[in-house]
Amino acid sequence: MSKLPGNAGVSVLGDKSLEFYRDPVSFYRERIEKHRSRVFQCRLLNRPTTFICSVQAMRELLCGRLCSLCIIVYVCVLVNLYLHVSGEEACLLRLSLTSLFSGSCLESSSDYITSRQPECVYSVFKRLGTELVLGLFLNVRAEEQPELFQEITQLCLISAPVNVKVPLWSSGFSTALDARDKLMDIIKDKLENDTQGFVGTLRSLPLPDSSCASQHLLLFISALIPKALASLLTSFTLALSGNEQVRKPRQKYPDYLHRVLLEVQRLWPPFIGGRRIADKDSTLAGFHVPKGYGAIYISHAVHRDPEVFQQPDNFLPERWSGRNAGQEHFLCSFGSGPRSCIGSKLNDVFLKEACVYLLKHYDWCLDPPSQDLEYKWLPVSRPTNPPTMSFTRLDQTRSDKNCTS
Ligand code: HEM
Repeated sequence: MSKLPGNAGVSVLGDKSLEFYRDPVSFYRERIEKHRSRVFQCRLLNRPTTFICSVQAMRELLCGRLCSLCIIVYVCVLVNLYLHVSGEEACLLRLSLTSLFSGSCLESSSDYITSRQPECVYSVFKRLGTELVLGLFLNVRAEEQPELFQEITQLCLISAPVNVKVPLWSSGFSTALDARDKLMDIIKDKLENDTQGFVGTLRSLPLPDSSCASQHLLLFISALIPKALASLLTSFTLALSGNEQVRKPRQKYPDYLHRVLLEVQRLWPPFIGGRRIADKDSTLAGFHVPKGYGAIYISHAVHRDPEVFQQPDNFLPERWSGRNAGQEHFLCSFGSGPRSCIGSKLNDVFLKEACVYLLKHYDWCLDPPSQDLEYKWLPVSRPTNPPTMSFTRLDQTRSDKNCTS
C-alpha cells in the first residue's frame, strides 16, 4: 500500500482551505500536475484530507467497501451545513423521504420569460427554482399568495438553520437566526394545518421525533436547491446559445436532450463535491488513508478524468450514445451509491420539463454577444458575472435583436 502523494502540512499553518475556496479548479489542477496523481493529500478545514479526482477512486469512496468504513459528514452540500447524520438513522430517513421524491409532482411551465429585454438568466432560473420548491414542499404559490411567497423567499436567503456561533459575524448571525425562527413558525403552521401535498404526506411519516419534519422542510426550501437548479439551467442555456446545431434536432427528444443534460452536468456540476471522514485506517485507490483523514471528491475533476472521458473539456453530447453510453454512474453531480441525492429524480423531471419548454418555444442568444463567461465554482457553479440573454419566441416573428447564431 503506498503513501498518499502530497503533504498534509502542520495544523493551522499548513491549512489550504482559503486557497481551495478562492479557486478550487486551479487548486486541484496544480496538484494533479505536481504529484502526477489524481489522488493526493492536503490539509483542508484543518484536517489532513485525501483529494479524489478520478472516476475509479470516486466509485471506491462512494459505492465500495470504503463507504461502510466512513462516517458520512457531508449529507448533502445543502444538508451538510446543518446536519451530521450517519449510519442507521440516515438509512431510516432516506427510506422515509425517498418515497416522497417519485418525481410526478411537476406541472409548472408558466410563461416565465416574458420580457423582450435581455434577461439575467441565472436570476430568472433561480426564481423558477424557488417557485418549484415553495410550491412543491410548502404549498405556497407565487400567483396565489404573492406576499407570503415573497416573505419566505427573503427569509430563505438570509436564514442560517444552525445553532453554531460564527466568530466575527455576530450581528449578521442574529439576523440569520431571527430569519430561521420566522421560517420555522411558518413551517410549523403549515405542518399543523395543511393536509395537502408534500407537507401533508411528510407529517404522516414515521420520523424519529417531532422536530424532524420541520427541520427537513427547512432544508428542502433552503436557497441552495434553487441555486443548484439555476446553475444547471444557466449552463444549459449557455452551452446551447448560438449553437443552432445542438438546438435544432428538436424532433429527437427525449434521448437527445438526455445526452445534452448529461454533458451539461458533467462539465458544470452545480456543487464542487462531497466530503467523508475515515473512521478507521482504510485503502483508497491503492493508497493508505489513516483513520481521521477527510476524503473529498471533486466532481469537476472526476468528470474530466481522461481515463474515462476523451476530450474531457469539450462539450460532446454524442459521447453518451458512443464511447460513454451507459456510464452515467461515472458522474457524481448528485453524489453516488447509497448516500446519493434523494432529489435527483425530481431534478431530472424538473430540468427536462424546463428545457423542453425552452427548446419548444424559444431561440436565444447572448446579449450583448461578447461577455465574460469565466465560471466560479463555490458555493454553486455559475459564471462570476451573471450572463444576460435575449429570448425570442419561435411562434412570433423574429425580434430585430442582433442574434449571432
Ligand atoms: C440540482 C439540485 C441538487 C443537486 C446538484 C444535489 C446534489 C447532491 C449531492 C452531490 C449529494 C451527495 C452529497 C455527498 O456525497 O456527500 C446530495 C445528497 C442529498 N440531497 Fe441533493 N442535490 C440537489 C437537489 C436536492 C433536492 C431537490 C433534495 C430534496 C429536497 C435533495 C436532498 C438531498 C438529501 C436529503 C441528500 C442526502 C442523502 C443521504 O445522505 O443519504 N437534494 N445532493
